[in-house]
Amino acid sequence: MSLRQELTIELIGDTTRPIYLDLAESIIRDIERGRLKPGQVLPGTRALSRTLGLHRNTVDAAYHELTMQGWLVARSSQGTFVAEDLSALENRSSQKQPVAARDILPGNKVTPVLLHVSDGTPDPRILPRNELARAFRTVLTSPLFLFARDYADPRGAFELRKALADEFLNARGLSVAADDLLVTHGSQMALFLAASVILKAGDSIAVEDPGYPFAWSCFRSAGAHIVGVPVDEGGIDVDYLEQLVRCDTSIKAVYVTPHHQYPTTVTLGAGRRLKLLDIARRYDLTIIEDDYDHEYRFDSHPILPLAARARPDQSLIHIGSLSKLTAPALRLGYVIATPKILDRMIHLREIIDRQGDVPLEQALASMMTSGALGRHARKARRIYAARRDFFIEEIRKRFGEFVTFTVPAGGLAVWLRVDDRVNVDNWVKTAEEKGLRIGSGTCFSLEGGTGLNGLRFGYAHLTQDEIGKALMILSASLPI
Ligand SMILES: Cc1ncc(COP(=O)(O)O)c(C=O)c1O
Repeated sequence: MSLRQELTIELIGDTTRPIYLDLAESIIRDIERGRLKPGQVLPGTRALSRTLGLHRNTVDAAYHELTMQGWLVARSSQGTFVAEDLSALENRSSQKQPVAARDILPGNKVTPVLLHVSDGTPDPRILPRNELARAFRTVLTSPLFLFARDYADPRGAFELRKALADEFLNARGLSVAADDLLVTHGSQMALFLAASVILKAGDSIAVEDPGYPFAWSCFRSAGAHIVGVPVDEGGIDVDYLEQLVRCDTSIKAVYVTPHHQYPTTVTLGAGRRLKLLDIARRYDLTIIEDDYDHEYRFDSHPILPLAARARPDQSLIHIGSLSKLTAPALRLGYVIATPKILDRMIHLREIIDRQGDVPLEQALASMMTSGALGRHARKARRIYAARRDFFIEEIRKRFGEFVTFTVPAGGLAVWLRVDDRVNVDNWVKTAEEKGLRIGSGTCFSLEGGTGLNGLRFGYAHLTQDEIGKALMILSASLPI
């Protein structure tokens, strides 16, 4: 008997799904653990079916599924192999290595980055990957895809716009139809299109300070000046905004993140929301509402967006993202705006991108209508709420002396205000030398960091074990 035939695979034993998918997941698990290596040959289907007591067709279906997903490669007359090109996976498994004590000793040489803390991204490892892969396969084998002779609608696949419109009506109080929506390549594209359509050189836009620098880049690229408005525990200071726009008529728009302010995570209070809408109407401002993480509210229902309170004729561009629900790599965002603004955005989108990613849009639409994405959202909320609670407890224990924060009601990050005794820039620099990459909060300030000594810690994409390791490195990196 050859070595190849002796290898066995232990089934996970999840009886809620077909056996071939259980076997496929078991093989993925062994690849992720490093038990099966890139390039390794797998047992033949006959041998494995005998070892596992399964029908040969079951093993064949699992291999086929994994080949479609890119985990395995079938070579004719040689057999089935673990794909060679799993470099991203190798990086990930190196991140999973335990942090050795010598890596965090003071004065040690630079170590490779072992862990990366984001500013608030989801964990793609909890995505229903098999369902997504199946949805993609269905789209790619459908006549709609195979016999498409022409480019598609620049507004995005009708199925996705319809599914989003239905969802918005039910969950966000937004009464829109599929034709009132534009699907974009991530909400970053939507921000760029919005800026290009409503701003011209010499205009100004009011923004939250601290705020989201990637949005500021879009406004600057449209030639606009950026004017900061302070943020406190109630969100953007609308009285300050009113004084500003009363004196400065070059301000044509205001950009806000009302659900969870970026980076501080505070929610814009009800009174301020109404006042903001009122100021915008009276001073003829367009509101850009960036509702980037609407799905994540842990302790109560999500707050309805500004767009749900606006009058139909209010100039408001509502922008959202699916990448916080799925993964940053799946580029899907959307826009709701008045017909005049939306038409100009659609036209511009068509110039730079012709159309969106139809298979991705249709796959996500089918996951929305089948309920798979809703199930995932509920599961993700449970997992991230537990990770948030764990993170908060650990921060209190380890950094209570230097760090203060308000427990965020939702979102995927916590804003940590750091005591002035600790210079955050130095802190993150030392942490990087010890293998932890995290951005300094100073970059979220318009004035380049003055008075903003903080960290936006995206905890959601890390397991509790990874959070523990990240905090251990941060603790060993404190520059005092
Ligand atoms: C405030 C804010 N707006 C927009 C985005 C962009 O998201 P997308 O991945 O949809 O481009 C992000 C991503 O982190 C964000 O934090």
